Amino acid sequence: MTLPTLDLAPSGPQVSRLALGLWRLASWGLADGELLDLIHGSLDLGISTFDHADIYGDYAAEEIFGRALALEPSLRHRLQLVTKCGIKAVSSRRPAHRINHYDTGREHIVSSAENSLRLLGTDHLDLLLIHRPDPLLDADEVAEAFQALRGAGKVLHFGVSNFLPWQFDLLASRLPMPLVTNQVELSLLKMEVLGDGTVDQCQRLGISPMAWSPLAGGRLLRGDDAQSLRVRRALQDVGQELGGATADQVALAWILRHPARIVPVVGSGKRDRVQSAAAATRLHLSREQWFTLWTASAGRGVP
Ligand SMILES: NC(=O)c1ccc[n+]([C@@H]2O[C@H](COP(=O)([O-])OP(=O)(O)OC[C@H]3O[C@@H](n4cnc5c(N)ncnc54)[C@H](OP(=O)(O)O)[C@@H]3O)[C@@H](O)[C@H]2O)c1
Repeated sequence: MTLPTLDLAPSGPQVSRLALGLWRLASWGLADGELLDLIHGSLDLGISTFDHADIYGDYAAEEIFGRALALEPSLRHRLQLVTKCGIKAVSSRRPAHRINHYDTGREHIVSSAENSLRLLGTDHLDLLLIHRPDPLLDADEVAEAFQALRGAGKVLHFGVSNFLPWQFDLLASRLPMPLVTNQVELSLLKMEVLGDGTVDQCQRLGISPMAWSPLAGGRLLRGDDAQSLRVRRALQDVGQELGGATADQVALAWILRHPARIVPVVGSGKRDRVQSAAAATRLHLSREQWFTLWTASAGRGVP
């Protein structure tokens, strides 16, 4: 059985119910052919959405992915490529950057997207996100950049990442196209966006948030702090009730259970872990199971 798909927003794009994140790609040590195998394996499971950023792997990840894709260019039309721009990180690959900072000016957004296209070896991005809210963000300039990229057919859809609701509203108010997602940190160890209006806003607008680090970067599975231990015990209990589901699967099912139709972006390059994550889409948590996990994370019951 392969995964279901969903439309991130009424205007699209259609994505897989789980996405694969490439933040850690450069550390996976995969040869191009092995990465191609991972892409194939993900597609076989129904994971067709791949999440990048210009800065991942110290500006190397998009190029690595592009090399793998170049081995089988016909795969491109089966994938949705998401990438991000707006952070300028200090890097030996960017000697002009003297300090980590943000740049959401027109020129940088356009040139960053065009560079991503070149590195990924594609003529269009399915989705481009502004990576972080920029205190110097000029919404009219972002609108100009987005229109130029869309007009040239280089980017099909636009969104944001790590935006608070009012930051999202400001940008959306100046755009001629909808923002189709807000990619935010969400896991059983990081639940703030469920209570600060971020996820509520997405639900109101009928767009799906994407959840980054849905396993808290692995801390959920191997952390030895009190919160991780509490949550892991609860994950194991709920997993047993669900007929032997594993902790990672229950943690993802907890996110998938949310009515905002949140898309978890999983970050493992190991075939068996990606396969395990995909199986989470078949689990359905009861309300009591969902709140058992919430309670374990919060360290207290609901009021
Ligand atoms: N928009 C943003 O600002 C932002 C920020 C951060 C990340 N992201 C996106 O979110 C994606 C996912 O983030 P993430 O990598 O932190 O996701 P994650 O899925 O929460 O964590 C992945 C990490 O957990 C480990 N892991 C997975 N299953 C495990 C298990 N059963 N036992 C022990 N460790 C396990 C993985 O190790 P192995 O590799 O050994 O499997 C990997 O190091 C990124 O790739 C990126 O696309 C976006």
